Amino acid sequence: MAGLWWVLFWISVVVVAVVTAFLVAAARRRRAGLDREEDIDTRPVPWGDRFVVLAGVVVPGGILAGTFVVSLGVLDDLADPPAEAALEVEVVGHNWWWEVRYPNGAVTANEIRIPVGETVELALPTADVIHSFWVPELQVKKDHIPGSDNRLWVVAERAGRFRGQCAEFCGLQHAHMEFQVEALPRAEFEDWLEREAEPATEPATGRTREGSELFAASSCAGCHAIRGTSADGDLGPDLTHLASRETIGAGLIPLTTGNLADFIANPQDDKPGVSMPPTELTPREVEAVAAYLMELE
Ligand code: CUA
Repeated sequence: MAGLWWVLFWISVVVVAVVTAFLVAAARRRRAGLDREEDIDTRPVPWGDRFVVLAGVVVPGGILAGTFVVSLGVLDDLADPPAEAALEVEVVGHNWWWEVRYPNGAVTANEIRIPVGETVELALPTADVIHSFWVPELQVKKDHIPGSDNRLWVVAERAGRFRGQCAEFCGLQHAHMEFQVEALPRAEFEDWLEREAEPATEPATGRTREGSELFAASSCAGCHAIRGTSADGDLGPDLTHLASRETIGAGLIPLTTGNLADFIANPQDDKPGVSMPPTELTPREVEAVAAYLMELE
């Protein structure tokens, strides 16, 4: 991809330089004739018609055809993974967040972890409309299309974080459909994956126990799952290990107890149009629920 980018860059440099040179030459030619009418240079441009055909049709056509052939080669190189996939991760597009499912039962949202240096195959279904999975530092874009088994492979060559963004307009909050891919060394990745598959921790205090009971009894549990509890909704993000995540609303705001309580109270303030309705809980109850969720590391 970088090679193709540089080819296009240098072609652009040459085209801009040539066009600028012609503009400057044309401006000079006109200026020279401005003083006296009879001095205006009306001589025909040297091989005028042939020049228009050459510079306006042949050269651009050749450049477009050439870069098309080069990009077909790049697409072909990107189509097949360099090695057999060590891991398959399912990333489901939703309006407007990403559900991330691992083969061992771990489910998370908006934060994808992968082992560094290994080929990872991504299955990219959608729960609703067309989304587009795009991590510019790792791979080209690939659409999530209803009814289509679209797949993409990635290899993170270094440990670290790579920002991702939905790249297909999918509704009001398309711009707030961010995610991140974090590449971890194999051992660290496996530890994380094992923890992520575990059920949620029990509430630690009386107040967070109250929060967990409110969560289970309210509309929260109709849409969200907390594995190990009676909450098993599948419309919104799995919250089993919510507190280990960094943001709320797919990269929208940092995950803090205060932000979480505000978001639960009325998600429409932070993310207008999102499916989650304002809560029926009182402010005090919302705080208990937020305190409980922040224990779910
Ligand atoms: Cu999903 Cu744009």
